[in-house]
Amino acid sequence: MRTKPPTGIELFAGCGGLSTGFLDAGLNVAAGFELDARAVDAYNYNHAYRGSRGYIADLSTATGPELLDRAGMKRADFVIGGPPCQPFSIVGKRQGERDIRSDLIGHFIRIVSELNPLVFMLENVPNLAVISGGGFLDGMKADLRALGYTVDHCVVSAADYGVPQNRKRLVVLGVKGKRPVRFPLPTHGTAEQRPISALSAIDDLPDAGDFGETGIFNHEPTLHSADMIKRLRSLEPGKREPGSFHDRLHPERPAYTLRAGSGNFSPLRPIHYKYHRVITVRESARLQGFSDDFRWPDRIPRLQQYRQVGNAVPPPMARAFAECLANQMGWRTDPAAYAGDPSTREPANVLTDSERKALRTARMRGASLGKAASRS
Ligand SMILES: C[S@@+](CC[C@H](N)C(=O)[O-])C[C@H]1O[C@@H](n2cnc3c(N)ncnc32)[C@H](O)[C@@H]1O
Repeated sequence: MRTKPPTGIELFAGCGGLSTGFLDAGLNVAAGFELDARAVDAYNYNHAYRGSRGYIADLSTATGPELLDRAGMKRADFVIGGPPCQPFSIVGKRQGERDIRSDLIGHFIRIVSELNPLVFMLENVPNLAVISGGGFLDGMKADLRALGYTVDHCVVSAADYGVPQNRKRLVVLGVKGKRPVRFPLPTHGTAEQRPISALSAIDDLPDAGDFGETGIFNHEPTLHSADMIKRLRSLEPGKREPGSFHDRLHPERPAYTLRAGSGNFSPLRPIHYKYHRVITVRESARLQGFSDDFRWPDRIPRLQQYRQVGNAVPPPMARAFAECLANQMGWRTDPAAYAGDPSTREPANVLTDSERKALRTARMRGASLGKAASRS
């Protein structure tokens, strides 16, 4: 009898970029847990048809057994996640004074200790390694080793795994027992395989039309002021606009790191290399390595769509880590079992064109870069 691929969960799941990569690799991510209902909505829209469900959960209070219970699981073979780093709760504390329970990374470690998975993967920003002169990361790793894991970390760029974006991330991997931890070798940016450029990732997309016009999901333009458009016209590829600090993508290079922002704050989005506007949600998703089947339903505000994309682990990078982990654990993988059929979902566009346009006007804010918005 063939055994089933191992089953795991994603913590702090957002819209589930990490889950997507693990499912693509053929491992069963049965559930994703996340505080933000709009992220759980996107998670479910894009994973339920693949057999994975998202749940709203506050992971600073939920226990590991409670999570398993909600998902109807007996155990988790792997736990993966990218907990937000809360530097204000960490910076300033001397090594030794660090209270691991005061931050969300600490809650990731607590849930690992409660669930005792065979493997865990924690993704974060490279800056994690410099907090308290490296003491914070060292302390985390020591806590995880005390739970019986062999633990190591590395800093990688998503571009090394075929993502058209220079996105550096720190990944901590842990494997139960005493065995070496391996990280996936780069597949791109090598002598044989150049990194994927922004042009090859998004050039086939038409200039964004108004809602519903292009037939491509999540591909509506941001409205800019006439003055902004004038300034963008003279901005060269690969250069920064001195007044607004917008960077224009270079077509021949991977994109700049896409960021998420927080609250009502929308981070500066890159300018398209040939159109005089910031990139759309769809272009952002392509630059994170999401397939066009990954969609954000209309009911999720566009600011949230951009944020969820910017927060995600690029699926091709997640997939490379999942395949490497499965390989070192001797796990069977079955990509076909978790592919699902995206056409079985309800449509992502649930509003009429006029409802969408009304919503868009009501929600227009910072990213439009000017009061007198117009397209020219
Ligand atoms: C960096 S994002 C994770 C993105 C995800 N790894 C992916 O690949 O799409 C971190 C997420 O943690 C969530 N979060 C913050 N506080 C939380 C809490 N107390 N409980 C659960 N999730 C929380 C945020 O809403 C955010 O979506």
